[in-house]
Amino acid sequence: MGKTIRVAAAGDIHAGSAERDRVAEAFKRVEEQADVILLAGDLTQRGQVDEIDVVADACSGLQVPVVAVLGNHDWQSDRPGDLARALAEAGVVVLDRTHTILPLNGVSVGVAGVKGFVGGFGNQWANFGEPLFREAYAETTKDVDGLDRSLASIEPCAVRLALLHYSPVEATLIGEPERLWLVLGADRLAGPIRQHRPDLVVHGHAHHGSFEGDIDGVPVYNVAVHVMGREFWVFELDAERRTTAPPLAVEET
Ligand SMILES: [Fe+2]
Ligand SMILES: [Fe+2]
Repeated sequence: MGKTIRVAAAGDIHAGSAERDRVAEAFKRVEEQADVILLAGDLTQRGQVDEIDVVADACSGLQVPVVAVLGNHDWQSDRPGDLARALAEAGVVVLDRTHTILPLNGVSVGVAGVKGFVGGFGNQWANFGEPLFREAYAETTKDVDGLDRSLASIEPCAVRLALLHYSPVEATLIGEPERLWLVLGADRLAGPIRQHRPDLVVHGHAHHGSFEGDIDGVPVYNVAVHVMGREFWVFELDAERRTTAPPLAVEET
């Protein structure tokens, strides 16, 4: 193995204001084991600023970069801008249909991030004229296009990561009732992943889903803390391999 990049990931932390110490300690612990930390949305319970401050405070002062997307619960109080600002002030890179490129250990690591949205899998979505349904479809289209653009932008990077909240694949939803899959992800999000083939895709949102899946061999992990049964998972990626074989998943100790 050549140069290794350690990617710690977690989704659905759902921090409450009473969990300040627990959250801060989890970030402190994982900092020792990671070169970058990815947060896959639903950082809060109800999208409140005092909740995001728990995560922001845990991130400020860390020596490793933190990259995040927001989740649906972070929008619940209609203050996503305030939440993103609080995270940014703590040094967190918040992505929303955008990308970032980080130099880590002499390796360029690109992260493409979108929240994603609903739509389901197969023919779950019925587009039959209702303006609000068309609006929802168009919203997912913006995420698909944003993911496509962002993955294209990180194409030259040695390590390419895709960070979502909603799932791009059914495999990591198994365990959730099928009637909910419509609102747990969208197969249209898999299009850009299939085309650009990042080294690792992580998402959250499906608390009762499955940890591991793939999109035509591109590894996809549901890193919701409920699924992982731990606060973070650390993936080790070989920066010189440039392949889409599944990364080595290392348990946090
Ligand atoms: Fe969640
Ligand atoms: Fe969610």
